[in-house]
Amino acid sequence: MKITYLSHSTFLVEEGKFKAIIDPFITDNPKCKLYISDLKDITHIFITHGHGDHIGDTIEISKKFKPMIICNFEIGHYLSNKGLENIHTMHIGGRVRLDFGVVKMTPALHGSSIFEGEDIIYAGNPSGYLIDINGKKIYHAGDTGLTKDMEIVKDENIDIALLPIGGNFTMDIDDAVKAVDYINPKITIPMHYDTFEAIEADPLEFKKKVRVGEVKVLKFNESIEI
Ligand code: NI
Ligand code: MN
Repeated sequence: MKITYLSHSTFLVEEGKFKAIIDPFITDNPKCKLYISDLKDITHIFITHGHGDHIGDTIEISKKFKPMIICNFEIGHYLSNKGLENIHTMHIGGRVRLDFGVVKMTPALHGSSIFEGEDIIYAGNPSGYLIDINGKKIYHAGDTGLTKDMEIVKDENIDIALLPIGGNFTMDIDDAVKAVDYINPKITIPMHYDTFEAIEADPLEFKKKVRVGEVKVLKFNESIEI
């Protein structure tokens, strides 16, 4: 399995023909080095919550590749009103087997509205995902504060945890270090930092402080294989 960090909370996950993008924040993302035209054969999109830096370019990418979109029920309804099809909706605590593997939607402590002009659209609860493909398990926490609920994830034997460290809107470095203790992953990749001034954080400080497993700090557009 190949995981590529596109910056912010945006990751490409590839395994054979499965090519997913999680929280596809590309066009308006000041740190993303890719354009939508650089993407190829996207088969799935995962959306953790309604904020613009997470729904991102979902509509444009979906029109181009017709991937399966995995999101909560409310965001699914919103996207289907925008004309998108092939939407698989679920909700927190739900687990499902899909064509590529097993997905569980996990809780996140955050907000999830969609802002459209002067309207604020309710977009359900924010979430994270456990994605199990051929026995390899990824946990993408979404935007979240530290929560004891993360201890539940420990029983899942996580290979790679993707955790926000930028503070202000999510866990900061010290809280994310505690989250790693709760989750006990083999590898942790920090995310949701340095995109904007409000979430500046030093991923190497995080790496130094983590007591459990290994931390891989990926440069923007860098990949690891597990
Ligand atoms: Ni958010
Ligand atoms: Mn965010």
